[in-house]
Amino acid sequence: MCLRLEEMTKVCAVFGGSKGIGKAVAKLLAQRDYKVAIISRNLDVAKATANEIGAHLALSCDVTKEQEVQSTFKDVVKRMGHVNYLVNAAGINKNALLLRTTSEDILSQLSVNLIGPIQTCKVAIKGMIQQQGGAIVNIGSIVGNKGNSGQSIYSASKEGLVGFSKSLAKEVAKKNIRVNVVAPGEIFFVKYLCSVWRVRLLFSAFCCGFYLVIKPF
Ligand SMILES: NC(=O)c1ccc[n+]([C@@H]2O[C@H](COP(=O)([O-])OP(=O)(O)OC[C@H]3O[C@@H](n4cnc5c(N)ncnc54)[C@H](OP(=O)(O)O)[C@@H]3O)[C@@H](O)[C@H]2O)c1
Repeated sequence: MCLRLEEMTKVCAVFGGSKGIGKAVAKLLAQRDYKVAIISRNLDVAKATANEIGAHLALSCDVTKEQEVQSTFKDVVKRMGHVNYLVNAAGINKNALLLRTTSEDILSQLSVNLIGPIQTCKVAIKGMIQQQGGAIVNIGSIVGNKGNSGQSIYSASKEGLVGFSKSLAKEVAKKNIRVNVVAPGEIFFVKYLCSVWRVRLLFSAFCCGFYLVIKPF
């Protein structure tokens, strides 16, 4: 049975929800009667995705920009209600051996993959503490855990995300807020988009208080 928008109480912000993993997660959440906000830099793509999957809101935000993150949360709260669930799926990957990696690529990967989720979590937990509960899922990578040649910076950003998430989980557990990391192996979306069980694993992190590592496929 589908609920009407006003009957829904679960509000979820999916950063990086316009494509790939974030889109798949957003689609499943929308199907399960969550009120879903799709957030990415490109508003046209976010809007098209929201229409396609039945999400309720599309917003433009660069997670590396603190002011944009803050105003985006304000917008979501104003239009959909308090954010109970946050998914951080925004991420970039610029493969190169360290000696060939530019300073710009080092900073951009750390900014989007690590500082971005830190900023969204910081804003989200304020509201979750007021609401006395919530859940956050950060998308890491198996590369953070295992390492991979040509991905030292990406790996650092993802393992940094694990340390951040574990510490934050300890900080906010007593406030009834769960923080988890899902660490997928490589996913080729055209080929694997229909592999619903993988998406269900991401969704299950909302429901279970554990740190989940998905082995490489
Ligand atoms: N695909 C894989 O094999 C794989 C494996 C392990 C882990 N992961 C991780 O899973 C996450 C999603 O990966 P994916 O393959 O689904 O990526 P994707 O298809 O490239 O989608 C990335 C999403 O992030 C958004 N984004 C990028 N930079 C952003 C920024 N600065 N601010 C806000 N949004 C931004 C993109 O939209 P805009 O460009 O419009 O902003 C898009 O919605 C990433 O963190 C990635 O590291 C992926």
